[in-house]
Amino acid sequence: MKKDVMILTGAGQIGMAIARRIGFEKKIVIGDKSIENAQTISKIMNDAGFDTIPIEMDLSSRESILSLISEARKYGEISALINAAGVSPSQAPIETILRVDLYGTAVLLEEVGKVIATGGAGVTISSQSGFRMPALTPKQDELLATTPAEELLSLDMLQPENIRDTLHAYQLAKRCNEKRVMAESVKWGTRGARLNDIAPGIIVTPLAIDEFNGIRGDFYKNMFAKCPAGRPGTADEVANVAELLMSPAGAFITGSTILIDGGATASYYYGPLKPQE
Ligand SMILES: NC(=O)c1ccc[n+]([C@@H]2O[C@H](COP(=O)([O-])OP(=O)(O)OC[C@H]3O[C@@H](n4cnc5c(N)ncnc54)[C@H](O)[C@@H]3O)[C@@H](O)[C@H]2O)c1
Repeated sequence: MKKDVMILTGAGQIGMAIARRIGFEKKIVIGDKSIENAQTISKIMNDAGFDTIPIEMDLSSRESILSLISEARKYGEISALINAAGVSPSQAPIETILRVDLYGTAVLLEEVGKVIATGGAGVTISSQSGFRMPALTPKQDELLATTPAEELLSLDMLQPENIRDTLHAYQLAKRCNEKRVMAESVKWGTRGARLNDIAPGIIVTPLAIDEFNGIRGDFYKNMFAKCPAGRPGTADEVANVAELLMSPAGAFITGSTILIDGGATASYYYGPLKPQE
């Protein structure tokens, strides 16, 4: 039986949780910079009845993205994309965060958008961090949304002297993801496909555990203790949202970012997480 193909970039906990929810009856091509991570997730999923193949790929390289897509197309039409690859503020320097989370995501959405099947759907993972930064100007938002991907990293606002630290770089990258999804969803729409974004709060995964153990560990622990949910989230709860976005029940949702953070952002603006003046 010929199958539709789903691309999963980022063989982490969030990516796997989403892929398990919607990946039945699909060939799942799993790309990750760490081939070990891709192989591990591929084995777990194959042992659970899915049909996956691991591939080494680097989200920060257009060439690598194109080669992943061309590999995926050998199996059939690409009808789904899950982009859950990324690096966090404690894992990488500013340049890497911008190159992977901001530029790489922009290229992936653009390139998959050129081949996505009619009726297809994609989801990318940004972060609540994109909601923490004060509003940018309408012009800055538009630049993040529409600047050709190859010129993004030359924007003034993304130059090292204009970025305070890795957290600021991450916030900018995740804000860019939201804007990029809006602009790209218009193009995906011309092919009869949809594209959305999920902005999670703290979800327990290896990436988040690096944050708990990093220099901002107390900040993160305080964040989930004082958010309305009073706990961090799980990758499976993110998959609940992705399932809606990627299924026919989400047919009227495209170009959206859905925040799933246990209320941490609400508390940051209007509750006990509000920064003291
Ligand atoms: N866990 C959280 O609390 C949280 C919160 C908000 C947003 N996010 C976002 O969710 C996404 C997935 O994170 P996760 O928590 O599942 O992390 P994870 O560490 O479980 O998975 C991330 C995966 O991305 C891969 N990766 C890193 N750089 C790459 C590159 N250049 N090319 C290809 N693959 C690369 C890593 O090898 C890893 O397997 C990330 O974009 C992250 O920013 C996570």
